[in-house]
Amino acid sequence: MNHFGYRDGELWCEDVPLARIAAEVGTPTYVYSSATITRHYRVFDDALAGAPHQIHYSVKANSNIAILRLLADLGAGFDVVSAGEIHRLEVAGAPLDRVVFSGVGKTAAEMRYALERGIHAFNVESEAELELLSSVASAMGLCAPVSLRVNPDVDPQTHPYIATGLRESKFGIPWPRAEAAYARAAALPGIRVVGVDCHIGSQLTSLAPFLDAVDRMLELATRLRASGFPIEDLDLGGGLGITYRDEAPPHPDDLARAIIERTRGCGMKLLFEPGRVIVGNAGVLLMSVLYEKASEARRFVIVDAAMNDAIRPALYGAYHAIWPVSASDGSEVIVDVVGPVCESGDFFAKQRGLAPVVSGDLLALMSAGAYGFSMSSNYNARPRAAEVLVRGDRYDVVRDRESMADLVRGERLPAR
Ligand code: LLP
Repeated sequence: MNHFGYRDGELWCEDVPLARIAAEVGTPTYVYSSATITRHYRVFDDALAGAPHQIHYSVKANSNIAILRLLADLGAGFDVVSAGEIHRLEVAGAPLDRVVFSGVGKTAAEMRYALERGIHAFNVESEAELELLSSVASAMGLCAPVSLRVNPDVDPQTHPYIATGLRESKFGIPWPRAEAAYARAAALPGIRVVGVDCHIGSQLTSLAPFLDAVDRMLELATRLRASGFPIEDLDLGGGLGITYRDEAPPHPDDLARAIIERTRGCGMKLLFEPGRVIVGNAGVLLMSVLYEKASEARRFVIVDAAMNDAIRPALYGAYHAIWPVSASDGSEVIVDVVGPVCESGDFFAKQRGLAPVVSGDLLALMSAGAYGFSMSSNYNARPRAAEVLVRGDRYDVVRDRESMADLVRGERLPAR
């Protein structure tokens, strides 16, 4: 359920017509619905009401500070993967004691940054990281709260680039080494064990791999607790999928029910790190048609957004629906929707049925709220898009479109 829909043939976000945003802010522009984000957060949170829990929104999905503040106000904690993401949270005024820090390559500087700000826990992904974190924390006279991210070796049945819980994946501590790693953690002076953690992949559309991972993690946590480790957090990661086209991912209620049933009475708090399911269908990329052109083989619609703005189709072959901002009479032509970037991989849709369009028409790339702007770049020296947050009948520009000056910010000409 989201708040993008047609009224009298025009596409609106909540109580604002997208055409008005395009006229006032220009295109390409990301448009987010605060009502949708709020709803998705609450659905997830309410589903878990029967168990002690904390949601740690995964910042990488969409890290605009306005969205971070909205979620912080709703009570969210956060999952970060860099000091930069912690900085964004700090600027947004989010409580940093609700942050968990994941990632296979944390630097000593990032560890210090996080320790100084008193985050909730580090999700440590290797024995080598454990050693470094212990020495960094000890040197600061601190003890770092740690969950070990363990790789439960289950197949999440998703795109290979976003599957993370397989034996072959770079993430987490290999399952057979988990207990030895906990023993090492307990022996280190700068480490305080607080939990266990896993994350098996993203855009998961069935319950089975989640529940396999829960069973394995619960078994591990129970054994560790029996051996005297103070395991308080059972962090199950993120990964719940959304509908881009016709996928039917489990509802958060079904996921939560199955997990609560399995973990009832376990004495641990459940932590989740959802990203996509909170923001994915809460955002669109609004764009304008520049040209139409036909070759013998194809008919192209060339738009003013490109793979640098939204890379999921180019990188994963991902499907995103494309809706006309002014609804058509239902007739369709088969087209490729492409951007201006100099790569054949720069497309949003291939051989897609779309209402006939002319130059200046507006289109919306749907389900673009997660991994859209956050993966965007300046490739081809294209300024990054503006971002807008809608609340009811008003909207705010929550990030300006980049300027030409922004494109060269920090660059320098050496003396000749
Ligand atoms: N926790 C950890 C440790 C993660 O690595 C991720 C995502 C999440 C939580 C959030 O997963 P989510 O609930 O959003 O599925 N760029 C890709 C997705 C990469 C996901 C990386 N990790 C895409 O556009 O599909």
